[in-house]
Amino acid sequence: MKKLWGGRFEGENQKWIDEFGASIEVDQVLAEEDIIGSLAHVKMLAKTSIVSQEEADEIIKGLERLLVKAKNKELIFSIENEDIHLNIETLLHKEIGPVAGKLHTARSRNDQVATDMHLYLKKQVGEVSELLEDLKKVILLKAEDHVETIIPGYTHLQHAQPISFAHHLLAYYNMFKRDLERYQESFKRIDFSPLGAAALAGTTFPIDRLETAEQLGFNSIYSNSLDAVSDRDYIIEFLSNSSIVMMHLSRFCEEIILWTSHEYQFVSLTDTYSTGSSIMPQKKNPDMAELIRGKTGRVYGNLFSLLTIMKGLPLAYNKDLQEDKEGMFDTVKTTKECLKVFSGMLEGMVINEEKMSEATTQDFSNATELADYLASKGIPFREAHEIVGKLVLNCLKNGGFLQDIPLAEFQKVAPVIQEDVYALLDSRMAVERRNSLGGTGFVQVKQEIKKAKKECSLI
Ligand code: ARG
Repeated sequence: MKKLWGGRFEGENQKWIDEFGASIEVDQVLAEEDIIGSLAHVKMLAKTSIVSQEEADEIIKGLERLLVKAKNKELIFSIENEDIHLNIETLLHKEIGPVAGKLHTARSRNDQVATDMHLYLKKQVGEVSELLEDLKKVILLKAEDHVETIIPGYTHLQHAQPISFAHHLLAYYNMFKRDLERYQESFKRIDFSPLGAAALAGTTFPIDRLETAEQLGFNSIYSNSLDAVSDRDYIIEFLSNSSIVMMHLSRFCEEIILWTSHEYQFVSLTDTYSTGSSIMPQKKNPDMAELIRGKTGRVYGNLFSLLTIMKGLPLAYNKDLQEDKEGMFDTVKTTKECLKVFSGMLEGMVINEEKMSEATTQDFSNATELADYLASKGIPFREAHEIVGKLVLNCLKNGGFLQDIPLAEFQKVAPVIQEDVYALLDSRMAVERRNSLGGTGFVQVKQEIKKAKKECSLI
């Protein structure tokens, strides 16, 4: 089959080489963006009298028919036509005849593909942002129900100090809030039109780049044609932002996986988000959480793939750049699906309040309370720390916890200790009193929730 670019070629095509070079199986996702970009281009060509209005009208009619078919997934593509751009042009030719050949005036596939991807990512940033908004709300509503649910706070995965479960959830709220901000800040760097850069150097035709940019809803245009066709920073930024989202989801999933285990029993997931075992009848596995944790790997991989593709590329367009798409589409799909699955999983997650607070009644996570108590009575904190450390060691040797030590025993090591110490050793009290700004105290947490609800327009 004769190629659209085949004029200077004499040799035979090899089907398997064509297949190797083709990207249509991947880039057909961009069909609508490609047609929309072409519509803007041809309208501009008519306005600037580069093609006649009659020619443009025919092309527009043909492209509009193709757009309807693209929306209905009715377009049939072929490997022989290599990529989405040549496929659409060939289909247009079938619709309207040789006048279709005028569409590519003052344009190259290099600025065309870049335009398609800018349009595509602008839309995707919007969609991912909405999913992040949904997740933030799910976290917030869960947090609201659990301000006074006490859970061990960990460092090194060892019981550290008791905290409010809502406080734990709000830490994730803040991570996803930053993720959303990152996408939104990146938007302004995607919002540039490369169209009109042509192959690499601009064109001799009197095109109007501002006109096409405006038609396509771009805020601005690339000011350098080489940069316009070879920049993939905006995709790398998207892949990086998505990697950070996945990292946050994965951390949260890891905790949920631990919490569902027999050892913790802090939460249980609904059946929808769990699976059984084909051999062990008792099993209820947190597969969806594990899958999200696992899929984080491929999203990181896509980021590294594009960074690596770019690192040695001379200006301007090189065919290596065709490899930018598969990972980008995969990251879009994976991140969106993971956000959706995670939100649903979290929404239905049942919290075992009893198990959570039980975990802080039979442990030493109140040791800091005792040290703080001594310090507040004038004992230097370092000395207080030493005294409590010794008491903990004693308990470990002889059994029991700090709150089980009789007052007389306490007074032997520190005469300043009074009866009021027992109230402070209660884990709920320990949480309630940690009322420093940004701390886990109930007052602080409630304020945080209120602030976040305002941000999410929930109040
Ligand atoms: N399919 C190509 C890509 O995705 C389109 C641009 C091709 N340009 C070229 N000069 N071969 O990058």
